[in-house]
Amino acid sequence: MEKAAAPFRSVLNPKPPIIVSCRGKDGKDNALVVVYACNCSFDPPMVMVGVTPERHSHRLIKESGCFVVNLVPESMKAVFDYVGSHSGRDGDKLAACGAKVADGAVVAAPILVDCPVNIECKVVDSIRTGSHEMFVGKIEYVHADKNLMNADGKIDFSGIDFLKL
Ligand SMILES: Cc1cc2nc3c(=O)[nH]c(=O)nc-3n(C[C@H](O)[C@H](O)[C@H](O)COP(=O)(O)O)c2cc1C
Repeated sequence: MEKAAAPFRSVLNPKPPIIVSCRGKDGKDNALVVVYACNCSFDPPMVMVGVTPERHSHRLIKESGCFVVNLVPESMKAVFDYVGSHSGRDGDKLAACGAKVADGAVVAAPILVDCPVNIECKVVDSIRTGSHEMFVGKIEYVHADKNLMNADGKIDFSGIDFLKL
């Protein structure tokens, strides 16, 4: 194998297809696509999502101290494309793209009902890395499609037809 010097930016693959949903102090819901995301602790269970300060959602997450990570299947491609290319500053984009939402069980943020897994998080820390602020979210509740639960009570992620990026 011969190697070439390659660009540095967003170099980790695969990128997780994720929509982060959040709610402002005024009760208005919003969501954005975030592929800068990963597990970052198993005890306590935590995930990390990277949001740039220019995003409308950045302010909402700072205000509320919580967010929901929604895993996105192929069937949600239209919603993914919409929330990843429009800003909540310009209106209610969840309504505009017809995304079904419900209240989180624990945190003050909406879940996207048609995503098979929704992970409710409270922000416990954040790290300004450069372009992004990495919000560290302690997991408070996980909703999973019952059909994905295996005999051990774990999520069978192979049952999700993840959106391909
Ligand atoms: C494939 C894809 C990946 C993205 N990843 C991120 C990301 O990791 N962090 C981020 O802040 N924005 C990311 N974005 C951009 C936001 O989703 C987008 O700017 C969105 O419109 C912001 O909405 P808001 O202003 O309502 O928060 C991504 C967009 C796409 C299409």
